Amino acid sequence: MTVMNSGIRDRAAESPRAPLLAVSNVSKVFGGTRALKDVSLTFGDSEVHALLGENGAGKSTLIKLIGGFYPTSGATGTFHLDGQPVSFDSVGAAEARGIFLVPQELQVVPEMSVAENLLLNREPTKMGLVDRRVMLKEAVKWLTTFKLDIDPTQLMRELTTAQKQLVSIARAMSQGARVVVLDEPTAALTESEIDVLFDRIKLFRDQGVLVIYISHRLKEIARIADKITVMRDGRVVKNGVTARDLDSAAIIKAMVGKDIENLYPKQVFEPGKVLFAVQDLHVRSSIPGKPDVVDGIGFELHRGEVLGIYGVVGSGTTETSRSLFGVSNTASSARFTRDGETVHIGSPADAMRCGIGYIPDDRKNRAILPHMSVSSNMSIAALPSLSRFGIIRARDDFALSAKHRQGMQIAVASVDQKISELSGGNQQKVIAGRWLATDPQVLIMHEPTLGVDVGARARIYETMNEFAGEGRGILLVSSDLSEVMGMADRILVLSHGHITAELKREDFKEETIMSAAIGEHS
Ligand SMILES: Nc1ncnc2c1ncn2[C@@H]1O[C@H](COP(=O)(O)OP(=O)(O)OP(=O)(O)O)[C@@H](O)[C@H]1O
Ligand SMILES: [Mg+2]
Repeated sequence: MTVMNSGIRDRAAESPRAPLLAVSNVSKVFGGTRALKDVSLTFGDSEVHALLGENGAGKSTLIKLIGGFYPTSGATGTFHLDGQPVSFDSVGAAEARGIFLVPQELQVVPEMSVAENLLLNREPTKMGLVDRRVMLKEAVKWLTTFKLDIDPTQLMRELTTAQKQLVSIARAMSQGARVVVLDEPTAALTESEIDVLFDRIKLFRDQGVLVIYISHRLKEIARIADKITVMRDGRVVKNGVTARDLDSAAIIKAMVGKDIENLYPKQVFEPGKVLFAVQDLHVRSSIPGKPDVVDGIGFELHRGEVLGIYGVVGSGTTETSRSLFGVSNTASSARFTRDGETVHIGSPADAMRCGIGYIPDDRKNRAILPHMSVSSNMSIAALPSLSRFGIIRARDDFALSAKHRQGMQIAVASVDQKISELSGGNQQKVIAGRWLATDPQVLIMHEPTLGVDVGARARIYETMNEFAGEGRGILLVSSDLSEVMGMADRILVLSHGHITAELKREDFKEETIMSAAIGEHS
């Protein structure tokens, strides 16, 4: 750390040090959108600095400039590191100065191993060749530090989203980072993985690292943040406030510009007849010889009910939700009934014919068609009802997305904009809107509010109320325990492919759910 020369010797000890990172008067424009408007901010060392704001506020844009993802030259304004002006034209250039970005949409090399990804661009070499033995040893060391039970020779694409995220963070931390920027790192993590991550973050913070932390989960902010900055509509509205001095209500008000009283506006309806039932669902492991990832579970979903399904990574929740929509290729021997009638679900087309809709958890890989417009992305699931003789009626397509866009309040320049140009949370709203357009009877919502800001989240929850109020049913599969507890009528807890607890709303207790989630099946 350099000390600014105050010119007066005996005051040198008290003279303010230059902040580790300073952003001054930065503006950034994309086509017609002004994503950042004259942003000025300072960040100190040894701090976890939360960067908050509604979807589209400009958080990712700002940190992509800091991390060299967007070249500094594409924006106006200046950046200083240790009091020295810096500019980056690539991620590599920022990394060379110790700034590491773990983006919202992960940048991993799926066909390479975990070890290769961890040591990417700094592979140990021996006589000009990559030294695999040393590389594996290094990788094991970092995986152990992060308490990651992952085989370093496994391919990245075989990992779960949570594991990929943790490997990317381990990579940054392992390269002597001074600034680590985490853009919604816990969106796909469960409570126990978050504990591990927070533990590591605090450790690195105490070693002097600046951690810039973006999240929409306010509970986490209270746990991890030392400083808080809030952005709204491309501007900074709260600048590096000490976290202790801001409670959740004040943060929400700064973000949204108004109070939100009830984060989970749950309405309870009298449950009706059984709408959808599953018996004896098995999903085999993709690794031969391993036990089934879903081992004979069954449940009933009633009309008017929101049934929560909660479990840690590896518990089988993802495989369950995928096989109910017919997208699992190792599911077998389940019996499904819809309104009492036996049905077959072997493909998404089967599922849709049974009136089942599905919001998948992994929006980048499964949900969005990045090169298509917002309106196409929203209406794609409704196509069978929109197309006549296989031709999409463009006007309906447009009207439909306009209607749902309004309901979800998606910030988009036009419905013809490419979805990949939207902020992360706004992409998620498009996905949710897509399924509401199809009029399903059963809606499987897997991580429906991933990266969605508090205000928009409340609107998604209200839509869930309406949906259930019309006598339809929702399966809410989420790793956000507050969300499941806030919105479900009943919760099934999964562990190692078995149902280990079933709780009614009046019996919801965090400890009970957590212990069932980590417990073994007896
Ligand atoms: N590549 C791009 N092309 C066009 N517009 C963009 C692009 N990237 C971002 N924008 C726009 O800039 C604004 C800020 O987006 P940004 O991704 O920074 O928001 P954010 O605060 O990270 O939101 P979220 O919480 O949803 O991730 C949005 O209006 C967005 O649509
Ligand atoms: Mg973002």
